[in-house]
Amino acid sequence: MIGVFDSGIGGLFVLSALRAAMPDADFLYYADTARLPFGVRSPDLIRRYAREAGARFAAWGVDSLQVACGTVSALALGEIGDAAGCPVAGVIRPVAREIAAAGRRRVLILSTEATAASRVFDEALAAESPGTVTLSLGCPLFVSLVENGFSSRNDPALLSFVGRTLAPGQTFFPDAVLLGCTHFRLLSPAVASLFPGVPLFDCGEAAARALADSPAGRKETGRASVRILVSDNPDRFRRAAERVGALPDGATVECVGELC
Ligand code: DGL
Repeated sequence: MIGVFDSGIGGLFVLSALRAAMPDADFLYYADTARLPFGVRSPDLIRRYAREAGARFAAWGVDSLQVACGTVSALALGEIGDAAGCPVAGVIRPVAREIAAAGRRRVLILSTEATAASRVFDEALAAESPGTVTLSLGCPLFVSLVENGFSSRNDPALLSFVGRTLAPGQTFFPDAVLLGCTHFRLLSPAVASLFPGVPLFDCGEAAARALADSPAGRKETGRASVRILVSDNPDRFRRAAERVGALPDGATVECVGELC
């Protein structure tokens, strides 16, 4: 069974890509909705959340773990993997590899504040392709916008907000935009409208492709089951996921939090 972790609904797109690539595998998706958003917390608190999530995955008996959260991948991949006691993959290196392979060398990185401050994406891009020039922008409110249903490119309020946040990126003239938080995929139309002709690279999609192509991913078989667990307010999570078409068909959302 493959565990997939995020703070909220963003990782559901990674889950969906993984299920398409590994149709027989069993998946357990856990969103720590009680603590969302992670990306505005301090590194120490994010590491504690990661250890606690990892311990839960260990108790659920997953064989491997895909962290579908840019923030935990950047700051606490070791912590969550150690606590889960199984092989763990994050969303940093696969997208850095894809950008390097595409020959892009001037990369605007959009992520949560904590991820931007860590500079982990910048370092991964430099390691894949020395000389790559990066600009990292922390976008503190984007996760909350997505969780609350703002994603339409026709929404003037959203466009104006996204435009204000990304203004420094426009004068950077990137040749690639890296979506370094799995929630941001839902803002792609708004982001793309600000950078015409510039390709967007989604960290979650790249990670799903990398796992599906790995020897571990190729041998994964099971009963094609999927369970969705959250740590608080399952109804709100279900509504948010349904609104963006990300809830797997027929899936229920179970609450496993302290107050459930
Ligand atoms: N999807 C998570 C990420 O990729 C969101 C983090 C948050 O909850 O702020 O970073």
